[in-house]
Amino acid sequence: MKEFLKKNKDLFEEYLKSKLDNLNCSHEPITTAVKYALDGGKRIRPILCILAAEFMGRKFSDIKDLAVGVECIHNYSLCHDDLPCMDNDDLRHGKPSTHKQFGEGMGVLAGDALLNLAFEFMLEGEHSLDYYKAVSYISKMSGILGMVGGQCIDIASDEFRQKSLQEIVELNMLKTACLFKAALVGSSISLGANIDEIASLELYAEKLGLIFQIVDDILDVTSKAEILGKNINSDLNQNKTTYLSICGMEKAKQDILELEIEAIAAVAKYGDRANNLIKLAKFLTNRSN
Ligand code: IPE
Ligand code: IPE
Ligand code: MG
Ligand code: MG
Ligand code: MG
Repeated sequence: MKEFLKKNKDLFEEYLKSKLDNLNCSHEPITTAVKYALDGGKRIRPILCILAAEFMGRKFSDIKDLAVGVECIHNYSLCHDDLPCMDNDDLRHGKPSTHKQFGEGMGVLAGDALLNLAFEFMLEGEHSLDYYKAVSYISKMSGILGMVGGQCIDIASDEFRQKSLQEIVELNMLKTACLFKAALVGSSISLGANIDEIASLELYAEKLGLIFQIVDDILDVTSKAEILGKNINSDLNQNKTTYLSICGMEKAKQDILELEIEAIAAVAKYGDRANNLIKLAKFLTNRSN
């Protein structure tokens, strides 16, 4: 899987660079900040777009603009997530977070610019009806019914009432799993996936997103900044209730293994078409950065 990830990450990086090289803007500071924010990261969401293409018997070139779009949306969410008014994190992708490097105003604007760029990139040219349905799905998964909605629950204070486990699962589903769905399900919709395929991929992406966020919460207390490229103990410093803070390490790890089984079960019936989806679930369950 490591080799598969590297090969496809390289493919994505090359295409993203070509898109950014063609960015024409008379106000240079914002393009600098946007490129800075987009630089680094594991590119898991573009990989999910590629896996959707593979699942549908297609290739990178068929979903490349959706992959760039979703990665722009993801990095906009990180720019804003790191702001002092949210998680107040100074380090991202192994370097000062965007607002630390360019000032708070530019941190906000780089996020705004990335969100709009995502839709500029995805909607350039003429496309099929399925493609427009996919972009509509991606916008929904990114907004108040998706990622933004999750971030709202996340920043709601725990001072007067602790969040319940059920609320944390809902929060993780929205803030993290919804962008996984945007990437995987959005791409498959654009390639004409049927109702059954969409339902299976949705279930898989939800389980994978929950795994990814619980592992993120665990790494926040067990890893090192040099490995993660972001400061550790962020959740503790912000007094965040997380899956880990409610369940404890042992149960959190046990639940991740159960979610892995559920993710795999969601797509196993597709046989070879889902091979790499299954490998990715195993890989992300055991990730260390
Ligand atoms: C970080 O996502 C935000 C979460 C949903 C936990 P990633 O860990 O995918 O971020 P990068 O882009 O690879 O740094
Ligand atoms: C953020 O979750 C998810 C987003 C939608 C950005 P976290 O706040 O835990 O992500 P990190 O740890 O800062 O990457
Ligand atoms: Mg956050
Ligand atoms: Mg954060
Ligand atoms: Mg985190």
